[in-house]
Amino acid sequence: MTATFPAGVQVLPSVMSADLLRLGAQVDALVGAGARVVHVDVMDGRFVPNITLGTGTAAALAGPVRAAGGLLDVHLMVERPGLAVDLFAPHAGAVSVHLEADPHPHALLQQIRAHGCLAGLAINPGTPPEAVAELVDGLDYVNCMGVNPGFSGQAYIATTPGRIARLRDLLPDRVRVEVDGGIGPANAAEARAAGADLIVSASSIFGAPDPVAAYRGLVALVGA
Ligand code: DX5
Ligand code: ZN
Repeated sequence: MTATFPAGVQVLPSVMSADLLRLGAQVDALVGAGARVVHVDVMDGRFVPNITLGTGTAAALAGPVRAAGGLLDVHLMVERPGLAVDLFAPHAGAVSVHLEADPHPHALLQQIRAHGCLAGLAINPGTPPEAVAELVDGLDYVNCMGVNPGFSGQAYIATTPGRIARLRDLLPDRVRVEVDGGIGPANAAEARAAGADLIVSASSIFGAPDPVAAYRGLVALVGA
């Protein structure tokens, strides 16, 4: 059976900015506050310079998030993503791969769905949104990057809302649009208005003195 995203606008805490010594408690608190999709960034030091979370972290998070009826959204920023899909999909409900990372995105999307996961394509700020048009049938969501992937806490790129709107125009309603990178109180509502309904945030939630309050603030701003 294929996973489904919860209906309606969702704010997705991105755990790469969590306090890793208190990861479980922080995620439990956010799930308690209503978060049902938790974003997990996987970086290999090759597709992007940074190296982040692995299969052990995804496996540890999957239990409590699934117990609450939620799912992990695993964002693979890696070369040869097909290898990583098979490692991470068992812990995930949704997996996105970068269009720029592999010459065979059509096959990768099929590979993700074969695991019963929602299949996503992430696109860098320099990739035209129209590049996903041929892949619509195999797609469940598009992750429109608001920064160049690799690090949390970067400044939001101003062309992002226009790119979200172009995606929303070309995609059927069933394909969700995610925005990831640079999102905070100053721009979350604008990204939502442009057409994103999966709103990812790392530093504006986990960098806040009270991550639950920051999450609730974003939820209120985007009408989730
Ligand atoms: C960036 C990652 C994002 C990151 C967002 O490469 O894909 O998910 O965690 O971080 P913020 O919200 O701090 O920009
Ligand atoms: Zn991400």
